Order: sequence, then C-alpha cells, then structure tokens
Amino acid sequence: MKKIQELQELNNKWKEECECELKKTATQAVFGVGSADAEIIFIGEAPGKSEDAKGEPFVGAAGKFLNEMLGLINLQREDIYITNIVKYRPPNNRDPLPEEKSACREWLLEEIKIISPKLIIFLGRHAMNNFFPDQKISNAHGKLLIKKFNGISTKFFFPLYHPAAALYNGSMREVLIEDFKKIPKVLKEIEKR
Ligand code: URA
Repeated sequence: MKKIQELQELNNKWKEECECELKKTATQAVFGVGSADAEIIFIGEAPGKSEDAKGEPFVGAAGKFLNEMLGLINLQREDIYITNIVKYRPPNNRDPLPEEKSACREWLLEEIKIISPKLIIFLGRHAMNNFFPDQKISNAHGKLLIKKFNGISTKFFFPLYHPAAALYNGSMREVLIEDFKKIPKVLKEIEKR
C-alpha cells in the first residue's frame, strides 16, 4: 500500500478511536498534511482557531511565518510533512493537558512510522517534551538530539522555538530564524552518520 493511503487509513481509524477529551469541544480533527515521502516531519503543539476551522495544521499567523522560514531554505510546504502532538484544538488555545497528549500519542507515533523521515523538527517545547521530557527549549533549541525510540526508525531530532511564541518577540524571532537556517546542514550531517 502507498504511504499516502496508509496515512488516510490511519487518520480514519484514529478519528473514530481517539479518546482525547478535546474531541468534545473541537470543530474537527486536524490531520497532518504534506508529503508522505518527506525527509522532514515538523511537529507542533495543537491546532489553534484557524486550524480548527480549516481542518489543517499551521494555516494561521504562525503558519505564515513558518512558510516564510521554509522559503529561506528553499523548501515549500509540499516538500515537508507537518502535524501536531494533539489533533484537536484545546479551548481558548490553552496548553494541552498531559492526558490529552497521551490520548493522541499513538496516533502521532504511527504517523511517524509510516513516513519514516530522516529528521523530526519540534516546533516548541510541548512537541519536544513529548519525546524529551527533561530538556529545556531555551537550551536545546537549534541543537541536534539523537535518541532511539521503540517502534520508530528516526533517531534524529531538532528542537526549535515555536513560531507563534517568536512571532512578536524580536530576539526569539532572530534566534528561531538562525536555527531554522541550520536545517540543510543538519540534514547533511545526518547523512554522514
Ligand atoms: N500552533 C501549533 O502548534 N499547531 C498548529 O497547527 C497551529 C499553531
């Protein structure tokens, strides 16, 4: 079966079976989008208002900023795959609760397994702490983390500040852009390993 079909089946299955409480208040599930053959998966936190309305990740202001940064390294949204740790919008965009993250965790792991990217990029601390609970984003951003997790072949992870947090914070924005520009070099480095 083609990866794209596998992803469709996965999303249809989890849309029914996911026991995340946020289902009750969200408009719809927001599935990952992009290339099923992508070398990079970007993982965000949870859908916001625009994503909940459209049913697509990163389509609001943070998404526009992300698209600009992708342009800096000659990538388009179609070249990457993008998803969230939680597939439903938390009310008023509050932080997702631990039980909401764990309810959606298997869904995310199976997505990663199908795509099997070379590199996973975390957008913000929530995505990073889902895999590396002891890391601090202020220290880990822009650094390659290497770790083997059961069931997924990807072992390279690159944490970044969340584009929504950096959007209106001048210094964080500069750091995020500089970290983002390291991505092509990080990919090359991984190929050598
Ligand atoms: N922020 C996220 O973490 N994910 C989205 O999909 C949109 C904004």
